[in-house]
Amino acid sequence: MTAPHITFIGAGNMASAIIKGLLAKGFAADQISASCPEPAQLDTLSREYGIGTSTDNTAFTAQADIVILAVKPQVMAPVCEGLVDTVQQRRPLIISIAAGLSSGQIDQFLGGGLPVVRVMPNTPAQVGCGATGMFANAQVSPEQRSQAEAIFRAVGIVEWFEDEQQLHAVTALSGSGPAYGFLFIEALEDAAVSCGLNADQARRLAIQTLAGAAKLAAESDLPPGELKRRVMSPGGTTEQAIRTFEAGGFEALVRKAVQAAWRRGFELAGDVPPEPGAQ
Ligand SMILES: NC(=O)c1ccc[n+]([C@@H]2O[C@H](COP(=O)([O-])OP(=O)(O)OC[C@H]3O[C@@H](n4cnc5c(N)ncnc54)[C@H](OP(=O)(O)O)[C@@H]3O)[C@@H](O)[C@H]2O)c1
Repeated sequence: MTAPHITFIGAGNMASAIIKGLLAKGFAADQISASCPEPAQLDTLSREYGIGTSTDNTAFTAQADIVILAVKPQVMAPVCEGLVDTVQQRRPLIISIAAGLSSGQIDQFLGGGLPVVRVMPNTPAQVGCGATGMFANAQVSPEQRSQAEAIFRAVGIVEWFEDEQQLHAVTALSGSGPAYGFLFIEALEDAAVSCGLNADQARRLAIQTLAGAAKLAAESDLPPGELKRRVMSPGGTTEQAIRTFEAGGFEALVRKAVQAAWRRGFELAGDVPPEPGAQ
């Protein structure tokens, strides 16, 4: 089988991150192309990565096996309108990374009946550490599913969901989640400065501590709760901190924040959010 041609509609942050990841994983530059209205953005991509580029969205779509829609949700409908004839003729796999637009909406924008994979990536994809949730509609073949998965595995881990509504929870967890991590880094830095460290050293230590904890949790067979207990000795410093978090309602606050993001996802999509824990 020849390697599929993958074209990106939209050449911004997410498209660039995925292109970089694909090339690092051995995808060939002549297998990848991108289009957007801004020639300067395209020049950078063709210079840095040697991929084909065009300001005409249909130029590469006409020969693509996979079309990745990487534009902002608010311009998706008009962008798709310009692609209808080409994709209806060619019938490539469509992958959308736009937040909040359903696979049904994307399919409808493109004239209907197409294989569509809807993806919720996150910004650490820019450094190869993404966490991506994916949903495939009924038209997607097993081979297309594997192709879609290989693309996002190039920039991190992938989880599939059989119920598209679960992508709202993915958005609230891993889509928005990098911001929760940054918030915690800031709070730790601030706290350490109040204990006498300078801000630069405090930030470096906070970042590495969270990165190290995440790596240890990923590589250990033990659940995070047990890893936490192993840092806490009775009567020690960690125990004091954890007891303080607990007394302040940390876990309940995290649950409330994630549920707020989850409910907002339903609202933005025009759906009614279910009761938490009710599905
Ligand atoms: N879960 C997450 O954390 C997450 C993160 C990032 C992105 N996303 C999703 O990924 C998508 C892209 O986000 P991004 O951060 O990469 O945005 P971005 O950097 O603003 O990129 C959007 C790209 O779309 C291009 N564009 C605009 N109008 C176009 C048109 N008519 N035809 C072709 N291209 C057009 C823009 O080109 P110009 O610059 O020339 O206008 C730009 O290259 C969004 O839908 C977003 O919801 C999700």
